[in-house]
Amino acid sequence: MSTATATPAKSTTKRPATLGSALERHLTPRMLNHAAWVTHDVAATADFYTRILGMELASTIFDDHVPSTGDEFPYFHIFFRMADGSTIAFFEVADLPPPSQASHPAYDVFNHTALQVRDPAELREWAEWLRANDVEFIGPVNHKGMIESIYFHDPNGYRLELTIPLDPEWNRHTDQGYADLKKWVDTKEKAKSEGRDPGRALVEMIREERKRYGTPVS
Ligand SMILES: [Fe+2]
Repeated sequence: MSTATATPAKSTTKRPATLGSALERHLTPRMLNHAAWVTHDVAATADFYTRILGMELASTIFDDHVPSTGDEFPYFHIFFRMADGSTIAFFEVADLPPPSQASHPAYDVFNHTALQVRDPAELREWAEWLRANDVEFIGPVNHKGMIESIYFHDPNGYRLELTIPLDPEWNRHTDQGYADLKKWVDTKEKAKSEGRDPGRALVEMIREERKRYGTPVS
């Protein structure tokens, strides 16, 4: 193999405390360009994302090294396009060993990608379509009146969600979000400082907070 190209300079983590937030400068990314994962079967992946998920093959790249890092991983890169132009992408690398297993099933449950559909009726159409194609799925699941979703896996084992927001303001609950973030971090840190189990303290806090959703606490 040829020598790796020069590795681009990495950004440093040092920063002045006065810089403030990118939000204040209106530096917010415009959209999802792509999210990317490794595949060991790009043919099955292409079939699934085009034929089953209705995403057009958008673009492909061959390279014998990774431009961003200089790593000599020869690969095929492929992108699939959604209705808004955002894409899901994959890399297939020759002779890549399988990944190590997750240390806890929560990783496989929580790591996922959610794709938004047109409306609740279309979500049901998607469920019928997945069923007709023998794709196992869970749902539709209603998440506290905020969104409704179905869940399944792609041929690589990546968890996918098809979702429709029921609350048009679902991604605008910012004040509540900052309050919840503080509550979670404070609960954890307070338990640690008092020598208590942070996990237990968090469960107690969650059970108290769940009352706001009006669901029974089990
Ligand atoms: Fe989700």
